[in-house]
Amino acid sequence: MGKIISFSNQKGGTGKTTLAANIAVLWSNSDYKVAVYDADSQKSFTHWIEARKKYYGENDIGIDLLSYNPHTFDQDLRDIKKNYNFIIIDSPPSITYESTQIVKNADRVIVPAQPSPVDFLATLPFLDLVKKQRKNVTVVLNRVLPRAKLTEAMILRLRYAGAKISRSRISSKVIYAETFSVGRGVVDISINSDTSKEIIKLGNEILRNF
Ligand SMILES: Nc1ncnc2c1ncn2[C@@H]1O[C@H](COP(=O)(O)OP(=O)(O)OP(=O)(O)O)[C@@H](O)[C@H]1O
Ligand SMILES: [Mg+2]
Repeated sequence: MGKIISFSNQKGGTGKTTLAANIAVLWSNSDYKVAVYDADSQKSFTHWIEARKKYYGENDIGIDLLSYNPHTFDQDLRDIKKNYNFIIIDSPPSITYESTQIVKNADRVIVPAQPSPVDFLATLPFLDLVKKQRKNVTVVLNRVLPRAKLTEAMILRLRYAGAKISRSRISSKVIYAETFSVGRGVVDISINSDTSKEIIKLGNEILRNF
């Protein structure tokens, strides 16, 4: 049975789509069967898939984009779960019926957050919501800058608030935007770069927690 992983946070711009795409590429390149639901009306993930089709060809992108319909979502997931190893959901930046339904259905909720006070404050209510649903939730610090005291301060504050934080952290690197714009992930370029190593570490950490 496929595992359902959502990338969610009510805060916008924290890296949900970037990390969802990069983890989808990592697992798909590792020969897992991967499907994605783009539940965000901004359709960033869908644009990325379109760019990927242009880059690799319609049938060689390795990831199935499934059509998201909140009215039939619960049943859709039950119907397709057996066909995939991983079903990734890119969530909208909001607490709505849709994002709550996504969290309800997810086996793992990954919450990207930047190590900044603004992200911290905007992420806490979302973590509360997920916790109320007794979901396995992990905060992933994204766009981490080297030697930033703010990162350690944010980790302490998140821990104090009872959040589980992944050991993997994702650095701030322009290659994420560069690869995203052409429908690629960082591990498509090289699996040996420091950037790819962080994505591989995160992917493995998520896998280990199943
Ligand atoms: N690790 C990173 N290093 C550098 N830039 C990053 C990183 N992660 C994300 N970004 C950039 O931050 C911006 C927001 O990222 P992204 O779209 O993934 O966030 P999001 O949470 O999906 O946003 P939204 O809430 O609008 O859906 C993008 O321009 C993306 O390229
Ligand atoms: Mg997004």
